[in-house]
Amino acid sequence: MGHHLPDRVVTNHDLSRLMDTSDEWIRERTGIVERRFVDEGTSCTDLAEAASRKALDRAGWSVDDVDFILFATLSPDLYFPGNGVLLQTQLGMGHVGALDLRTQCTGFVYALATADAYIRSGMYRRILVVGAEVHSRGLRMTNEGRDTAVLFGDGAGAACVEAVDGEGLLAHALHGDGAHALDLCIRKPGLGSSPFISPEQIEAGDTAPSMNGREVFKNAVRRFPEVIAEVLEKAGHTPEELDFLVPHQANARITEAVRSRMGMPEEKVASNIHRYGNTTAGSIPIALSEAVEAGQVKRGDLVCLAAFGAGFTWAASLLRW
Ligand code: UT7
Repeated sequence: MGHHLPDRVVTNHDLSRLMDTSDEWIRERTGIVERRFVDEGTSCTDLAEAASRKALDRAGWSVDDVDFILFATLSPDLYFPGNGVLLQTQLGMGHVGALDLRTQCTGFVYALATADAYIRSGMYRRILVVGAEVHSRGLRMTNEGRDTAVLFGDGAGAACVEAVDGEGLLAHALHGDGAHALDLCIRKPGLGSSPFISPEQIEAGDTAPSMNGREVFKNAVRRFPEVIAEVLEKAGHTPEELDFLVPHQANARITEAVRSRMGMPEEKVASNIHRYGNTTAGSIPIALSEAVEAGQVKRGDLVCLAAFGAGFTWAASLLRW
C-alpha cells in the first residue's frame, strides 16, 4: 500500500471565510476538522503517481513488474481518456492496459475485486490498483455550494496486488441501485441532456456535486452493516473474528453508527475523516495504508474494507493481510 496527500491543509475556519459555515457545524455533523487541497499545477494523476511510487517501493516492484492498471476516480484530469493511461505514462511504464472505474466512493473496492478476478483467472499477475481524487477544483466555495463543499478533500492511495500462497483476498460483495443516481451526482458535463455545458448550468451548480444528504446518510447506515455481514458470511467468518474494519470515510457519524451496530471497539475501526474529509475513491486505500504504517493492521489480520456512496453503490472486501 502507499498513499499521498497534498501538503496544503485547509481548515474549517478557512472555509468559513469563504462561505456561511462554521467549524462547529462541520465538526458536529461530519467530524471533519481539516482537509488537504492540491496547489495549482497538481493533478489527480500526480497524486496517484506519488501514491503508486510508494506502493511499488514497499512491494519491491519496479514499474516494469506491473501488468495492468486499475484506476478509480470521479475527478479525472480529462473528460476522456481516463487517468489510467495518464498514470501509465507518468510512471514510465510499458504499454500495459489501463482500466478506469467510475463507482465513486466504492471505486477502490470495486477495483480490488476486479484485480482479484483478473489474477485468479490467470489473465494478469501483478496489478496496480489506485484510488485518487482532486475534489477541490470542482467544489462551489460559496453559500450555494456549502452543503457539499465542506465535505470533500484531495488525496490518493494505491495497492500492489499479486497472487500469494495461502489466504489473501477472501470475498467481495458489489452492489448498486441506480434508482438513487440523482441523490448524489455531478450533472455536467454530461451528454444525457443538451447542451454539453452552458454558463447558466455552471451558475446553477450543475458542475459541482449535488447531494440529498439525508437520503445518503440513511442508506449508508443500513448498507454498511449489510454488506460487511455479506462478505463475512461468504468467507465463513463471524463479526467477532474481524481484526480491523476500514470503512469509507464520508462522515464520522456514519462510521460511529456502523461501529456501534457491529459492536466493534474504536481502535479496530479506521478513522481519519477529521484530517482529510471525504476523499472518495482515495479514502479506503489512504486509510488502509495509514493503518498498516501505524501497525494497526498486522500480518495475518482479518480485515474488512467497506464503502457506500454515489450510484448508489455499496461494496465490501474481506482479506487476510
Ligand atoms: O461518500 C458519500 C458521500 N456523502 C455522505 O456520506 C454524506 C451523508 N450525509 C451527511 O453526512 C449529512 O446529511 C450532512 C453532513 C451532509 C448534512 O447533515 P444534515 O444533518 O443532514 O444537515 P441538512 O442537510 O439537513 O442541513 C441542516 C441545516 C440546513 O439549514 P436549515 O434548513 O435547517 O436552516 C442547511 O442549510 O444546515 C444547513 N447547512 C449548513 N450550515 C452550515 C448545510 N450545509 C451547511 C454548512 N454550514 N456547510
